[in-house]
Amino acid sequence: MATTELPPERHAMGVSMKRKEDPRLIQGRGRFLDDIVLPNMLFLALVHSPYPHARIVKIDKTAALASPGVKAVLTGEDLVAAGLGWIPTFHGYDKQMVLAVGKALFQYQEVAGVVATSREAAFDAVELVEVEYEPLEPVVDPFDAMSDTTLVREDRENKTNHIYHWEVGKREETDAALAGAEVHIKERVYFQRCHPAPLETCGSISDMNPATGRLTLYLTSQAPHAHRTVVSLVTGIPEDKIHVISPDIGGGFGNKVPVYPGYVVGTVASVVLGVPVKWVETRTENLTTTGFARDYHMDVEIGATREGQVTALKVKTVADHGAFDAAADPTKYPAGLFGICTGSYDFPIAFTELDAYFTNKAPGGVAYRCSFRVTEASYAIERGMDLLARELAMDPADLRLKNFVKKEQFPYPSPLGFVYDSGDYHMTLQKALDKIGYPELRRLQAEKRARGELMGIGISTFTEVVGAGPSKHFDIMGIKMFDSAEIRIHPTGSGIVRTGTRHQGQGHETTWAQIVAEELGLDPQNILVEEGDTDTAPYGLGTYASRSTPVAGAAIALASRRIREKAKKIAAHLMEAAEDDVEWVDYKFQLKGVPGKVVTMKEIAFAAYTNPVPGSEPGLEATFYYDPPNLTFPYGAYIAVVEIDRDTGETHVKRFLAIDDCGTVINPMIVEGQIHGGLTEGYAIAFMQEIGYDSSGNHLNTNFTDYLIPTALETPKWETDSTCTPSPHHPIGAKGVGESPNVGSPAAFVNAVMDALSPLGVKNIDMPLTREKVWRAIRESKA
Ligand code: CDP
Repeated sequence: MATTELPPERHAMGVSMKRKEDPRLIQGRGRFLDDIVLPNMLFLALVHSPYPHARIVKIDKTAALASPGVKAVLTGEDLVAAGLGWIPTFHGYDKQMVLAVGKALFQYQEVAGVVATSREAAFDAVELVEVEYEPLEPVVDPFDAMSDTTLVREDRENKTNHIYHWEVGKREETDAALAGAEVHIKERVYFQRCHPAPLETCGSISDMNPATGRLTLYLTSQAPHAHRTVVSLVTGIPEDKIHVISPDIGGGFGNKVPVYPGYVVGTVASVVLGVPVKWVETRTENLTTTGFARDYHMDVEIGATREGQVTALKVKTVADHGAFDAAADPTKYPAGLFGICTGSYDFPIAFTELDAYFTNKAPGGVAYRCSFRVTEASYAIERGMDLLARELAMDPADLRLKNFVKKEQFPYPSPLGFVYDSGDYHMTLQKALDKIGYPELRRLQAEKRARGELMGIGISTFTEVVGAGPSKHFDIMGIKMFDSAEIRIHPTGSGIVRTGTRHQGQGHETTWAQIVAEELGLDPQNILVEEGDTDTAPYGLGTYASRSTPVAGAAIALASRRIREKAKKIAAHLMEAAEDDVEWVDYKFQLKGVPGKVVTMKEIAFAAYTNPVPGSEPGLEATFYYDPPNLTFPYGAYIAVVEIDRDTGETHVKRFLAIDDCGTVINPMIVEGQIHGGLTEGYAIAFMQEIGYDSSGNHLNTNFTDYLIPTALETPKWETDSTCTPSPHHPIGAKGVGESPNVGSPAAFVNAVMDALSPLGVKNIDMPLTREKVWRAIRESKA
């Protein structure tokens, strides 16, 4: 057993310290947008374009305004007059129309808003808004967009569909290494456009109080502070006059990071009418207009020796961004953290480049359970390694073991600029191979193949990069990506912790309380966790991209330690001892060398308010703004085992094992829940989901009968386990985990299916691997 491999009871927080009450779950308060009803509240419904690309000739509001209950109808022209026709997109490279002005640029684009006394009245009147369109030729394929024959964005200075070019690494050296490689593979793999599809859609209540001039915004927001700042910058309303409350928002998965037209139109309506206005998306609106994910066409090239040592990597990507460049990426990273595409492997040289294009499709490019394009990068390299193994006729596990970054190489500077913090890839893959019985599975596969049956084994050993981020590199619209915690301990030893993050079911109520409890020796049941209210929480950039634990989790630990420093002074005062004679032992302060002489944190808390140290400040609270020195690099080894029905093309996932390493685990039960959820999403992406458009630009997946969500029936049984290589720079050694299963699993599934089909000569099928696609591949291979 390698030294870093610890059994769970040694590396889980709390458990390690014999705090038997951990881990367990603390329940949230459960106040959703739907539960919030305000006096005189009106309802907003939006009018959508039926055309993917069309000139708007005329909008006639007359019939809608005459409809019962209707209070206002707003168009793009009205918003332009109010100075709110356009809003900046998150990373600031582009701007987005709130309601279509002049042209509609994608099917379902928002064209007008109707405000009425009930949701039903608003939807009825939507039908009465008469819009005259002149349809135009749409650009649907990013490869067609390259010719600029049809221009998507006439409003831009640059008359081209090309948005940006981004590259990192050494182009010439990589090309030379690839040209000279003994073995060389090249394949285009497509990570399809998909959607986070949270079961609870996006929504808002805008409440402008005409008496106070204060705007309260209830928003389904993963980043309430960032949203408050954006609203202030766009509207000119001072930030103190804006109160953003993100109630329990249901799922988020990156979908609730951007600013959407509904929020803006609702706010304008509330300002104009002086009453609260509520907007809640329909399922179709969510799938057709809000942030999609992925849509990367990636040419992966790997060079290697005949013995299977990798020598160079090149990935060239064409990205489809839709009609507005609304990707939610940090400013300096237009292609997110795609530079992680060298993965877990020690490439001596690498180069990656990307070109992004406008098309007549919905905007987005959100990090769907993903750290800014890490999922696409992991898919590219993990598919590439399997294709190389096949070219070399080498076992894919052996190829990976041969090329992994070795544990003594950490901190490891990757050729594309990251410095990986810690890892032991050999140990983790070996554990997965042992646990699943890999040699036995390969024997079984050989037997089945001899009988003509299609069985496949797929491996994915991904490395992630999460915890955005260090302020020297990471900002969103200029705001640095630190995070914060404020902790108050009350006189009786209970307390409250507030952070700049906003969970969406990740269980921060439990894990944040655990960190405070662990650092201060208090009962986690009596630590209240509060997030999502900009009037009370300290400033932070929110919850997405598995950044909460690496950034806010660190802030909580360090704010707790500030409290412990003060508590030590109080302990010395209570013991009538010098501070230097007091030490922290087993969750209490003890007089050095006198085990019986102790003071508990509860006693200290009481003293902080009743018997403070003379001449010092009473009370027991602290705030910490944490700027991480580096990102964290969680990783995993996933193995999928599948069987395919030759006659129907149906894939059965027989086994799926996920070994994850996210450093110190705060709560094993929550981490396991995160893994199960993410694997289920990864399964759906691999086999069921795609946001597709036909050649005329019509959206093909507008509801849950076309865009499939896995139920318990389809979902495979997950086997999970872990290894632990703590992050050396994080105060408690924790790395993020929430997105790992979504990042790592699609390649494992696809590699398994391609392994099963390898006797038929099938090398690649793009996701989703539907029955029809697999069946066609089998049939064509026979032909
Ligand atoms: O940013 P987000 O909360 O989505 O992701 P995360 O930081 O990966 O955390 C997801 C959940 O897993 C949180 O409740 C974390 O505190 C918990 N977690 C944990 O218990 N141990 C870790 N090493 C990482 C996360």
